[in-house]
Order: sequence, then structure tokens, then C-alpha cells
Amino acid sequence: MKNKTVVITGTTTGTGYVAATTVAELGAKLIMLNRPSKRSKKIHDEIMKKYQETEVYTIDCDLQSFFSVHNAISKIIEICPEGIDVLCNNAGVMALMDIATEDGYDIQMQTNHLSHFLLVCELFTLLEKTSTEKGESRIVNHSSIARLTVKKLKKEYLGKNGGNLGGNGKSMFFGGARWKRYGQTKFANAAFTATLHEKLQTKRSKIKALVAHPGLSNTELQVTTMKDGGMAKKMTGFMMKRSQSAEDGAMGILSCICLPEAESGQFWGPGKGMMAMKGKAKPFNMEKSYNNNRTKTLLWEKSCEAIGKEFII
Ligand SMILES: NC(=O)c1ccc[n+]([C@@H]2O[C@H](COP(=O)([O-])OP(=O)(O)OC[C@H]3O[C@@H](n4cnc5c(N)ncnc54)[C@H](OP(=O)(O)O)[C@@H]3O)[C@@H](O)[C@H]2O)c1
Repeated sequence: MKNKTVVITGTTTGTGYVAATTVAELGAKLIMLNRPSKRSKKIHDEIMKKYQETEVYTIDCDLQSFFSVHNAISKIIEICPEGIDVLCNNAGVMALMDIATEDGYDIQMQTNHLSHFLLVCELFTLLEKTSTEKGESRIVNHSSIARLTVKKLKKEYLGKNGGNLGGNGKSMFFGGARWKRYGQTKFANAAFTATLHEKLQTKRSKIKALVAHPGLSNTELQVTTMKDGGMAKKMTGFMMKRSQSAEDGAMGILSCICLPEAESGQFWGPGKGMMAMKGKAKPFNMEKSYNNNRTKTLLWEKSCEAIGKEFII
């Protein structure tokens, strides 16, 4: 990863932390986009100390706020005149309360998808610069097994309906609204990748669009959900006994970020189905449930509407 510039969201813990420390160890210039916090500072200091040869930056970026994301984008443009090799949209939250962001969107949809859409749109020129000069660059999204709980992308989840999307039902298996919203965001991550891949291929672009999932991985994700009231302690304990480590969970995004053989349009993770909770990350094809014209058109239109800009590739 030497002489490569890698931008990753949500590196304070979990799979993002593993991905950030790994690419720093492999010699990439690393730009971490995190909400300002003690742990954001701690990981920055830790990486700076451990990998002194590596160029490391932390940029404040709260994905719940388009204003904050725009500020982060200006700083990235300033410090990456050379272009961007990899933009990894890793950060995410799960099954949080039915709350609107300051922009009016669902807290989960804005964090997990819409702000990442904005990042890709505004950093596209830098990705294009690298792909032209070096023969490739990559956009890596992070989805979930939860995408499989969704049959159809629904436009209300992508609209300005935050706080009005079904309430705080927390039943994971019987249609709890918190989980429906999460499922839609992770379906959106996969649909975004499928749409990007199609548009990039049509233009014969050398930018690759890839997506991964970490199976069930022992990170802070479930801890945060539990604190928010979205998962009971007993259930969480039961599930996490079946999980894999954050390191193994990060192998999907790391394969997409680093492996020379990773191809645009691939989905990397420990398997395809609902039971793909652990194991070696491998590539598979994207699924028809979101890789279809209706979903791709809806996803793109509503995401452009949210960021207030046409994103033309
Ligand atoms: N763990 C699993 O089993 C699992 C399964 C399927 C999919 N995933 C996906 O994997 C990705 C990484 O999750 P994880 O398991 O590593 O969870 P995690 O340990 O909770 O890490 C999530 C990261 O996202 C950041 N984040 C959350 N809200 C943010 C915001 N508004 N602005 C900026 N950063 C924010 C967190 O930073 P803060 O310190 O600021 O909170 C943290 O760095 C997510 O997209 C998740 O949906 C995980």
C-alpha cells in the first residue's frame, strides 16, 4: 500500500480501526474521518507513534451532519492534491432510535449511506485523478447480512422523514422498526455499489466499486445498540458467542481495499446467505434484490435529492 492514499470513515473502533491500522502498517498515507472524541484522538496518537514512517491525518467528520461532512471534504481536498487511491465508507450505526438528524433524515440512513454518498460525490474528482494516473482507484462500501432482510428499497427511508419512520420497535425477528431502518441502510450500501459499478463500467472508468460485509463481528456496534435500547443484554450475549473477531470481520473491507485481484462489482465477505456469520472473506456476485433498475434509479435519485446536487458520472 506504499504510495497509496487511503481515506476511511469510522476508525475509532471495530472493523474501521483494524482497517486503518493495517493500511498504516502497510505504508499507505492514511486519512481517518471520525467524530471528534477521546477515542478518535487516542487512535490517531497510537498510529502516529507505532507507524512513524506513515503519513497519518485525522479529520473531524460527523456523518450525522452534512455541514460537518462538507467541512471534512474541504480539508481532504487540501491535504490530498495527489488524488485518492481508496475511499472506504466503513462507519455505521445499527438499530438506533427513530430520530432525525439536523438535516431531517433518519439518523441511521444519513450516517450509514447518505453522508457516504456525499463523500463519494465530492471526492470523485480525486478518485478519478488517481485512476487515470495509476490505472485504478477504489470505492469500498460496508454492508451487512441485514441487507437480506429487505425485499425492496423504500423511498421514505431516504427522504426527509427522520423521526417519523415507524418508532422504536426493537424486535429483530418480528419487524421491529429500528431493524427495518437498519436493513434499509445496509441494502442501500449494496445498491449504491451496484449503481456505481454500472455507471463506472458504462463510462469505461478505471475506478472500482466494491462492497463487503463482516459477517457477525465482535465490535462496538452491538454495544452501542444495546445502550440505545435496541437490543437486550441476554440476546446480545447469545448472538456474540457466535461472532468472529473484529480482525476477521475486517477481512472483507481489507480485501476490497488492498487485494490486487479484487474486481469492481464484487461483494466480499464470509459467504452469501443469512448464515454467513464467520469465515474467510471471499468474493461473490451482487444480488438481484438490489442490483436491478428500479432500485438503482430510486437510490440515485433520492440520494442526489438529499445531498442537493446531481451526481453525474
Ligand atoms: N459488527 C458486526 O457484526 C457488523 C455486521 C454487519 C455490518 N457491520 C457494519 O460494519 C461497519 C463497521 O461497524 P463495526 O462493527 O466496526 O462497529 P463499531 O465498532 O461500532 O464502529 C463503528 C464506527 O463508526 C463510527 N461512527 C458512528 N457514527 C458516526 C458518525 N455519526 N460519524 C462518524 N463516525 C461514526 C464510530 O465512531 P464513534 O467513535 O464516533 O462512535 C466507529 O468508529 C458498519 O457499517 C456496520 O454496519 C458490522
